[in-house]
Amino acid sequence: MQSPPRRPLNDFHRLRPNGVDVTILAPSLLSADFARIAEQIACVQEAGAQYLHLDVMDGRFVPNITWGPKIIGDLRRLSPLVFDAHLMIVEPERYVDDFREAGCDRITFHLEATPHAERLLVHLRSMGVKAGIAICPQTPVGMLQDVIENCDTVLVMSVNPGFSGQKFIPHAIEKVREARALIDGRNVECLIEVDGGVGEGNARALVEAGADALVMGATVFGAPDPAVALRRIRALLA
Ligand code: DX5
Ligand code: ZN
Repeated sequence: MQSPPRRPLNDFHRLRPNGVDVTILAPSLLSADFARIAEQIACVQEAGAQYLHLDVMDGRFVPNITWGPKIIGDLRRLSPLVFDAHLMIVEPERYVDDFREAGCDRITFHLEATPHAERLLVHLRSMGVKAGIAICPQTPVGMLQDVIENCDTVLVMSVNPGFSGQKFIPHAIEKVREARALIDGRNVECLIEVDGGVGEGNARALVEAGADALVMGATVFGAPDPAVALRRIRALLA
């Protein structure tokens, strides 16, 4: 089956001046070995990842805790890759300026975590950040119809957020299709990112459904060689 034609995206072209339409691969550092973090980042960068996906968890929105702006600011010095922050925190509006300051290029927060999503999207764009909204598996894509014009990313969660290594929820493929229809129907320039349980068994189906970016934790950093794992995904999407 042929992938649907997609419009080129600004930051994608910044990375690929030849304009070839390539799926964005976004390894998630949640599964990386932080005792060897510089080496791990260099490895996926070398293997062709375009984004580094940074999962920020507060122990309240999700039952896990990771890192904040200090760690991201330090990592920023290690790599020119697009820093793609996924905030799984309550009241994200309180912290986005700090994450911007730390060097995040894209900031995605959860629709379920704030009552003022549109205001926050507008604020992110005003800071020069690509603004994203994530939705949990039980949140319908239709909830985005009044904010889609303000989104640079829609992140479809294909597991319940909080941990790496969970099983992919197949219904996410249908949600990607719905998000594609919403975005194309409104003619907006917005990436669809999928996060959770993504790997060799579903990557192609997700791209065919309309996904632009695949987040992968265990598939990449859980593999004996993250570069090999990333190249295998790239090859099966070719
Ligand atoms: C989970 C995070 C994901 C996580 C994905 O809540 O948002 O980014 O790292 O890990 P895998 O790919 O192992 O499901
Ligand atoms: Zn994530």
